[in-house]
Amino acid sequence: MTHLVTGAGSGIGAVLARRLLERGDALVLVARSEERAEELRSSYDGADVQVADLAWPETVESLRLPDRLDSVVHAAGVVELGPVGELSVDDWATQLRVNLVAPAALTRVALPALRAARGTVVFVNSGAGLAAHPGWSAYAASKHGLRALADALRGEEPDLRVSTVYPGRTATPMQEEVHRQEGKEYDAGAWIRPETVADAILHVLDLPRDATIPDLTVRPG
Ligand SMILES: NC(=O)c1ccc[n+]([C@@H]2O[C@H](COP(=O)([O-])OP(=O)(O)OC[C@H]3O[C@@H](n4cnc5c(N)ncnc54)[C@H](OP(=O)(O)O)[C@@H]3O)[C@@H](O)[C@H]2O)c1
Repeated sequence: MTHLVTGAGSGIGAVLARRLLERGDALVLVARSEERAEELRSSYDGADVQVADLAWPETVESLRLPDRLDSVVHAAGVVELGPVGELSVDDWATQLRVNLVAPAALTRVALPALRAARGTVVFVNSGAGLAAHPGWSAYAASKHGLRALADALRGEEPDLRVSTVYPGRTATPMQEEVHRQEGKEYDAGAWIRPETVADAILHVLDLPRDATIPDLTVRPG
């Protein structure tokens, strides 16, 4: 099996990529820079690591993808909290580009390979993709949009399986950053482990052909 994973340098994507590599699957990883790509090459032995800065979604067009992809997992993401009265155009644009436009552009370039393998597309969304709370407008808008992307794609590509996974707060560097932005103390033990979310994604990927999981919400227990 061959999987393309974004965000494999940290958090949920990193655990997922490790799990896939350890069981012998082939990986295509997307890193934001040549420097990050070198780091990923040394941590994921044998992985095909390519460079695309998802803040500039057109860069995905230069990726050289294999002829077949069993899955594409969009795990990369960024967050910048703030009230609407304070968020800059750049805050909005960066979150929309990385969290929404890049997954759309990357899905488009991966479609021929996904169709060839009748593959699975997984969008790592967020509870913020289902409800927008004060301070979360731009991130939540990007994730609401990501849900729309998944739902439309599912109807357009009946031979693919398209799943959205909605994790609640998960103990990763992003959640640490969210706490910093909220001005709250961070306790990793209070949140979902990234391993648990990665295992939920694996379950979606490994589901037998007779079924699909369009939407999966994972909340802290
Ligand atoms: N943690 C949570 O509480 C939580 C909850 C719900 C949903 N999510 C979602 O889950 C996904 C994974 O989040 P995480 O918590 O694992 O975050 P994380 O630890 O911050 O990892 C995010 C990954 O995205 C990559 N990335 C960010 N901007 C990029 C860019 N411009 N180009 C290429 N790659 C870029 C990062 O690359 P570098 O390694 O180079 O920085 C990193 O590997 C995200 O979509 C996030 O929105 C997270």
